[in-house]
This record gives sequence, C-alpha cells and structure tokens, in this order.
Amino acid sequence: PQVYLNGEFTPLSQAKVSVLDRGFIFGDGIYEVVPVYGRKPFRMGHHLARLRRSLEAVRIANPHDQAGWEDLVGKLIATSDAPDQIVYLQVTRGVARRDHAFPADAVPTVFGMATPFAWPGAELREQGVRAVSMPDERWLHCEIKSTSLLGNVLARQFAVDRDAVETVMFRDGFLSEGSSSNVWVVKNGVLVAPERNHLILEGIRYGFIQEMAAARGIPLEMRKIAQAEVEAADELMLSSATKEILPIVSLDGKPVGAGRPGPVYAQLRQSYDEAIA
Ligand code: PDD
Repeated sequence: PQVYLNGEFTPLSQAKVSVLDRGFIFGDGIYEVVPVYGRKPFRMGHHLARLRRSLEAVRIANPHDQAGWEDLVGKLIATSDAPDQIVYLQVTRGVARRDHAFPADAVPTVFGMATPFAWPGAELREQGVRAVSMPDERWLHCEIKSTSLLGNVLARQFAVDRDAVETVMFRDGFLSEGSSSNVWVVKNGVLVAPERNHLILEGIRYGFIQEMAAARGIPLEMRKIAQAEVEAADELMLSSATKEILPIVSLDGKPVGAGRPGPVYAQLRQSYDEAIA
C-alpha cells in the first residue's frame, strides 16, 4: 500500500524516517485516528480541530490548513479499495541533533496512512467485552493526542495479559478513561461520563455520544465518577474510533450489572449504526 510521508506518496516499504526524528527519539509528536465509512471520513471536522489543538499544545507549527488536511485525507482514502478504513495521521517535531529543547530549524515530519477498518466483530458488539482496572499512571496532559504513549501501551498490555480487551484507569480513585478509549457509566438510566479536562483525551465519540444521548432523551451527566460507582454500574461502555462503542460486561472478573449489554448501549449502538450507514 501507498503511504504519505513529507509531501509524497510512496510504498509503505519505502517510507523511511531518520533515526534522529524526534518522534523516534522523544515521542515528540502528535497524531489522529479518523474512521472512514463508505469512503467518507466520519466527523472529520472534529478530528482536524483536535489535531490543531494537539499541535498548538505542543507548539509544532501546523503543516497544513484545513483544506490541505482534507485533501490529504481524501488522497489517503484513495490509496485503499476498502470502503471502510482507518486513516492515521502523525506529525512530529522533525529531525534534529539530539537535545531535549526544541530545535531552531527542524521541519515537522508528516506521515499518513489508510488501512482497512478492522471492525469490532459482531460477537464483541453483541456479547460485550471484558475489562480490567488499574491506577492511571500517565502524565497530566492526557488531553493532547500525543505519540508519547508508553503509559497507554503498558495499560493496554495489562488488559491483554489478563485476557481482557481494555483497561479502565482510575486516578486518585476516580474514573479517567481506557488505555485507548473513553469509558461511560450507566446508573438508573442516567449516562455518566468523566468531566472533559486534562485527565482524559476528549474522544470525538465523546462529543458524538453526547449528541446521540440528547437526541434520544437519555439523561447525561459529566462529573467525577468514583471507582465504587463504576463497580456498581448497571452498564459500562467504551468508545473509540476503532472500537466504536462496545459494552463492557465484566470488570476485574465481576459482572457489570446483569453481565450482558444493557438497554442504553442498545440505543446508542442503534444511533451509531444509523449515523455511519
Ligand atoms: N485512540 N482516550 C484515549 C486515550 C484514546 O487513545 C482514544 C482513541 C480515545 C477515544 O477517542 P476517539 O473517540 O476520538 O477515537 C480516548 C485511538 C483510536 C488510537 O489511539 O488508536
């Protein structure tokens, strides 16, 4: 497959970056993951706005304007025949002599690729997934979609090692998010999400689920959620570009609610499927 690197489309095997790239040396970069349905990017404006915010937060000059990014994403989609895809975009601070401080004259490295969408299987969607929990040991700027993902990588492996799909993280006893997803709680028909702040990545699905809940009249609260509330939830869900929405039916080996996907999930799932159809 063809990928994009610094202004050119090349076969993946020929896309090469210097070992001095600050993305490699320091994890000094940011990224986006945009789902594509029927060859159309889903909520692209939101993804590009978040990309801009991430670049601003780490003070990397934005290499493209909105139209430039849209054009690039369109060309990436054209590299694949798959109707449904995941477009990955990454910008690093570029190549420079190794020094933690920002280099004076580095040119950002821009990388993009489109891969076929690996759907969460029908079984996961209908039967739900297992999750485990651990303390959130990441830094305090989780709102930046940074390629410095070691904390997330370790949290995700924590789940894999325990035969689970996701790790739900708690900071000082309060829910933050999953290793690579946002987490939702349902209690007595109310959908509850952690506040939108520097302790979580504001998923594009975070906003989308808010809209779907409002459209269906599902009450939504955004507030601090104690670990005990998560353990006593009627339903738990996770959301991300690649996993869409999935019900969590067991946490740390104990059933969530009735131990099967609940009615609020079913409603949101239906709205999601309608939106991407
Ligand atoms: N991850 N929180 C974290 C830490 C994430 O990494 C992600 C997404 C989300 C959900 O965001 P969105 O709804 O915009 O996908 C929340 C992507 C999919 C990834 O790293 O591959």
